[in-house]
Amino acid sequence: MTIPYPSIQTLPPLGAVSPPSGAQRPRLTFIGTGYLGATYAVCFAELGYEVLGVDVDGPKIDKLAAGTLPFHEPGLDELLHKNLGTGRLHFTTDYAEAAAFGDVHFICVGTPQRADGMAADLSYVESAVAALAPHLTRKALIVGKSTVPVGTAEWVEQLVHKYAAGLADVEVAWSPEFLQEGYAVEDVLRPNRVIFGVKTEWARDMLYSVHKGVFDLAATEDREVPVVITDFATAELVKVAANSFLATKISFINAMAEVCEATGADVTLLAKAIGYDSRIGNKFLRAGVGFGGGCLPKDIRAFQARAQELGVGEALRFLHEVDLINQRRRQRVVQLATELLGRAYGPNGPDLQGVKVTVLGATFKPNSDDVRDSPALSVVRRLVRTGAQVTVYDPEGIENACRDVPQATYAKTLNDAVAGADLVCVLTEWEEFRNADPQALGALVAGRRVIDGRNCLDSAVWVRAGWEYRGMGRPVVR
Ligand code: UDX
Repeated sequence: MTIPYPSIQTLPPLGAVSPPSGAQRPRLTFIGTGYLGATYAVCFAELGYEVLGVDVDGPKIDKLAAGTLPFHEPGLDELLHKNLGTGRLHFTTDYAEAAAFGDVHFICVGTPQRADGMAADLSYVESAVAALAPHLTRKALIVGKSTVPVGTAEWVEQLVHKYAAGLADVEVAWSPEFLQEGYAVEDVLRPNRVIFGVKTEWARDMLYSVHKGVFDLAATEDREVPVVITDFATAELVKVAANSFLATKISFINAMAEVCEATGADVTLLAKAIGYDSRIGNKFLRAGVGFGGGCLPKDIRAFQARAQELGVGEALRFLHEVDLINQRRRQRVVQLATELLGRAYGPNGPDLQGVKVTVLGATFKPNSDDVRDSPALSVVRRLVRTGAQVTVYDPEGIENACRDVPQATYAKTLNDAVAGADLVCVLTEWEEFRNADPQALGALVAGRRVIDGRNCLDSAVWVRAGWEYRGMGRPVVR
């Protein structure tokens, strides 16, 4: 039975619905064991659910089943071991097994930017549904978690009907995730809100059952987790709208940084001052080399592409500007390097031949090994193009960075990295860099020059230790 949206939003949940498998609590599968799916699978096992992680990548599944995570995420390793031990968490490459096991199947596959443009590539979503649906023989709920263009949930519903061939009564729902890398475990166990994009009361109540563990944990901690019940389109838009807003906030402060650079003002003080207004808030106002990662850059591009298709491209034209501001900040580091080193611009741009530059940071943010669309690596590539000899150090990201930018040299320790450097650029704000002793590092370098691409160092301390310091959007400190 299809219920019109307003009635779902106003009706109270029916309470626990019986999982079609006959199990006491719904059994969950997470399809796609990348960053998103693996984190969810482990955390929902931790919340007490029986969970099956599914992926087409056999070696990855073997690793997970043996207790090894394919990426770095604080706190997740321990939970993986613990829950493999409880017997609640399993992994498979077999879709028939997944279909036989699960009441609720979460689609957690990647939706990367397409090679031929800005839009999202939905081929992994399609293959996940096409692989699962023919094996479904009883009622089930397929829940989309991946970030997708608005309209995808309706399309998934059609795919399910096509591939399930009427074998089972399968429903679709959309429940976007808001994981921040580095805090992903907390974000799953203690989300600041959950969104249920549904068409029927059964789907809504099944999602309540699936999140009972999350609500119970919140109750024991005297918290509440707000639930927003929506239609499909709104649920899909919540995610891209949230990420667009965050990207816009970062680019706003980085645009202010450009103005500060032209006027001698200090963007860190400006951000602090405007952030005291609770309507603005002080979060996501850190000016620097800008945003990167597997989400914000691709999401704002896919959103623009989808808006074009929908005939509302103009409404999101500002996101193009947000992207451009973000890209300009990366080039600004190269510009600052050229100025600090007193080098000239040649016919092909800045000429840093013969200069040794050390880049501290490769990941797109600290506490992660993720280098996707990393501003730090983008700067490394640009520096390599100037002819500079670039050495990179990162506490967790070296392995991934080496694959992406093999032209740079990689060091194993901070001290090794800075030895003999003419210029040090801090481009990811790892604690190890923030707490580094500028006196000790000063003894190792060839020239005490530092660019603080994340405005994360204490400029006064570095200047006192004899360093020429340049921040982003900050006046020169002498
Ligand atoms: C983001 C969203 O925060 C999350 O809700 C969504 O689910 C996925 O995308 P994530 O990609 O993990 O999460 O990183 P986030 O912490 O948002 O940072 C994104 C980028 O912005 C990083 O490169 C970070 O360094 C940069 N950033 C963040 C700034 O440059 N300035 C800021 O003030 C904040």
